[in-house]
Amino acid sequence: MTATEAAGAVPAYAPRLPGGHLPWLGPVRAFGRDPVGLLSAARERVGNAFRFPLLGQEVHFACGPRAHAAFFGADETVLSAREAYRFMTPVLGQGVAYDAEPTEMEQQIGHLLPALGSRRLEAHARVMEEESEAHVARWADAGEIDLLAELNRLTVSIAARCLVGDGFHRRMGPQLATLYRDLESGIRLAGVLSPKAPLPAFRRRDRARAAIASAIAEVIAERRAAPGRATGHQDVLATLLQASDDRGKRLPDETVTGILLTMIFAGQHTSAVLATWTGLLLLRHPRHLDAVTAEQFGVLGAQGHVTPQALHRMDLLERCVREAERLHPPLTVLMRKALRDLTLDGHAVKAGSLVMVSPAVAHRMPDVFREPDRFDPSRYLPPRCEHRPPYSLIGFGGGKRRCVGLAFAYQQVKTVWSVLLRRVELTSTGGEPRPDYSTFVAAPALPRSVRYRKLPPETGNTTRDP
Ligand code: HEM
Repeated sequence: MTATEAAGAVPAYAPRLPGGHLPWLGPVRAFGRDPVGLLSAARERVGNAFRFPLLGQEVHFACGPRAHAAFFGADETVLSAREAYRFMTPVLGQGVAYDAEPTEMEQQIGHLLPALGSRRLEAHARVMEEESEAHVARWADAGEIDLLAELNRLTVSIAARCLVGDGFHRRMGPQLATLYRDLESGIRLAGVLSPKAPLPAFRRRDRARAAIASAIAEVIAERRAAPGRATGHQDVLATLLQASDDRGKRLPDETVTGILLTMIFAGQHTSAVLATWTGLLLLRHPRHLDAVTAEQFGVLGAQGHVTPQALHRMDLLERCVREAERLHPPLTVLMRKALRDLTLDGHAVKAGSLVMVSPAVAHRMPDVFREPDRFDPSRYLPPRCEHRPPYSLIGFGGGKRRCVGLAFAYQQVKTVWSVLLRRVELTSTGGEPRPDYSTFVAAPALPRSVRYRKLPPETGNTTRDP
């Protein structure tokens, strides 16, 4: 409770940004192009809370750990994620995720949890390592690559195998990466307004969803027909096929398909983007790149296998990934719809407003992170531990709705880099790319190519001198 509330005074609305000539549309073009730039600049001008119109909606933006605690802690009946993210239904499917009743979505996520727990992460680590090794093995001895494109292909393979299984991965082959891209390109500002508009991107989105869903449905049908048959790695689908609802009924196939699509959608491109930023930041900071490479050879040598225990010992790599999460969070804006009038961190918010927080803006607050624009993995070491204060680092959300795939994503990014750092020497081809904030997941803009040279198999970090 703030001092204003304690004194019984009615909280005021946050200041309103000038609407310009478009009081209904608001700064829609600038927001679509660069929401983070717009929100950061406004925060510097007017402070941590402000309002603005956007496509006929009142937006209330709030920034800072206290506001985040209120945002993530609010009940769904007050600040609704479901109402804010409904525009994703054409991608995720009807009756799942944000299209399901909140209690149902909770149950759907509950079915997933065993598949993401620590015992299962061990099996996932093997797949992540196998896929990373196989991916690098296909490269020529030296060359130049678009890092994001490569890591996207790699994380598509990992997601396909870990979530839906080896058979699905083999069946779909390389077309899966293209289908995912089409699916994701269907999430854009126009989709928030009118998800069914006759846009070419939406037609591609719908075709991609239908193709992936039908391939998943075929795998489900095969598994249901031969329940005892070994499927290789214990994938997430296996867990969902064993799950039942509170009346003991098995989950309908469309729900299983929808949950898998939700996970693929939530976790694949986001992980590829986080992994890409991790690499690009390391390349910009050779001292850290050398140290993190030395850590890899120290923990695993050239031939050791990646296990959750080994990953646990890669403390510097973990802190570098965390710095990438802080400086370039893949999801830059998180939203809720206010279902009734409320007070958020001392400001009144009208029912019907869209309430926003932004990891990308919040992670650059100098009173939360010292010298926030600096890549500095040591900020997470004692005594600084700048990620410890609740709701300071929010790249994976917070509270009840914190990302359920956090451990999986960190494990994946660390495994990919553990393999890459021990198999290839990387060099940057230019400056650090800027984030492209116009897309739903903020990837580095082009050019983002890096040069690599494969290391001889017997290498024990002899080519680098930390
Ligand atoms: C780098 C990778 C990832 C990032 C940056 C990320 C980020 C996030 C964020 C910020 C939220 C909270 C959204 C909000 O509060 O509005 C979230 C929720 C969620 N994430 Fe992730 N995520 C990642 C990977 C994954 C993976 C790998 C999975 C699944 C395997 C996953 C599944 C989910 C699900 C199901 C939710 C919804 C949770 C709920 O509402 O209760 N995510 N994620």
